[in-house]
Amino acid sequence: MNDIIRPLDAKSDGLIESMKDPTSAEGMIFFHADEGKPLATPWQVALSRAILLSKVQLPEGHILDCACGSGIQIAAYSAIFKRPALGIELNPQRARASAVNFRNIFKTRGGGSVEILQNSLFLAADGRDGKGAIEKLAIANGQEDVKIALLHLDPARPRNSRSHSLDEMKPRLGEIFDGWKDHLVETTAGPSILLDLSPRLSHLQRLEVEEIVDQYWPEIDKTWTWTSRGKGRVDRLALWIGAIADKGIARRFVRISPDLKQQPFIFEGGLSLGQGEDIPESSHRMPKRGEYVTILDSAFVECGLAKYWLNEQIGEENTHWVESIGRRPQIHHEVKLNLEPESDKTLIQTSGRIVEIFHQQLTAETVDSFVEQAIANDIRKITIRTPLEPSSHPKIQGSFDRQLSRRSGKRDGFIIQHPNSEMSMLCVVE
Ligand SMILES: C[S@@+](CC[C@H](N)C(=O)[O-])C[C@H]1O[C@@H](n2cnc3c(N)ncnc32)[C@H](O)[C@@H]1O
Repeated sequence: MNDIIRPLDAKSDGLIESMKDPTSAEGMIFFHADEGKPLATPWQVALSRAILLSKVQLPEGHILDCACGSGIQIAAYSAIFKRPALGIELNPQRARASAVNFRNIFKTRGGGSVEILQNSLFLAADGRDGKGAIEKLAIANGQEDVKIALLHLDPARPRNSRSHSLDEMKPRLGEIFDGWKDHLVETTAGPSILLDLSPRLSHLQRLEVEEIVDQYWPEIDKTWTWTSRGKGRVDRLALWIGAIADKGIARRFVRISPDLKQQPFIFEGGLSLGQGEDIPESSHRMPKRGEYVTILDSAFVECGLAKYWLNEQIGEENTHWVESIGRRPQIHHEVKLNLEPESDKTLIQTSGRIVEIFHQQLTAETVDSFVEQAIANDIRKITIRTPLEPSSHPKIQGSFDRQLSRRSGKRDGFIIQHPNSEMSMLCVVE
């Protein structure tokens, strides 16, 4: 099999794993091979990253993805930056799927420049061999020397493993830097590199990544970027390095809206990772009636930036963290959060004012005293946000629904558990 694939000539014969990307507003259909689908970057993530990166002035040259899988990310870059691409993939079927996807994406989104398509190349090869790949590209394009404007790396990692070491990445970071260091265009801020890493890397592993990068480019600028599509999940964790890093900005949180037409919410700042994880300490403070409870988006808290956003909104002295880790980070605050733009609202799971505190948990036995207070507080509907046995949830919710529907309450409420005690809180949404 020929290991050099030109997108214009790539054949889709035998690539049977073709499917519509559920995140693509355009209904893009992609080919995958040899179980490449679960590895592929969702189109919405790839496109949104390319749009964000297009705000940076890249030097002249090709865009490189040296472990390109199904080629989704490199195609999104190429289509948005209008740059030729070099995609390398060890698995020959996937390499071919990449070239086909690249051509299709380019035709839909790339503005139709045949020259860019002609100058793009996919190799079924080892992405660690920078010299070999550059030689092939130079010969194919009839150029003497080819330079790489951006190196993207999304290495394969063991599946279903919650804690894997950096050495298990395929290819490994150091191997790629060794192979490509001399072929990357150097700007005054260094080369442009984007490492698309596992969102499950621990803080120590992120520091290890920084150390590896610094061995090649000492003290180069780095911006960590957490991307979330909601539901408190960090979907991608990437390190933007050198010319694409934002000098002085160590962390960036990007929340892609479920509404594909809406701009992502971006919040930047925080401490460099070397100064610590920077996630607030939880306190054992007891709740007070009249103050507010907010459950924040856990992905936003996880990246260490939520507290800076809250400082801007309501001030540090007004924010009491009662739970800062896990799926339901909880703060109590005296000042109401003013969530104006739609995007701000995506940063919280729920927020409301405490109208009643119960020194007991919500159960089938205690539900009536909760209902009583809900009625007294003019509540028409209750959302249960306390952890309940799945079997008792419908029964308890049914009690609320039945008894509240007979009244003419006007407010929405929720019940939440205080994380450090048996207390529960009845809150109204304002
Ligand atoms: C996570 S996937 C990349 C997915 C890609 N970003 C996309 O959008 O489809 C990682 C890929 O790296 C490939 N790979 C692993 N070692 C490699 C190597 N030494 N050279 C080239 N590709 C390699 C794997 O076959 C796998 O397809």
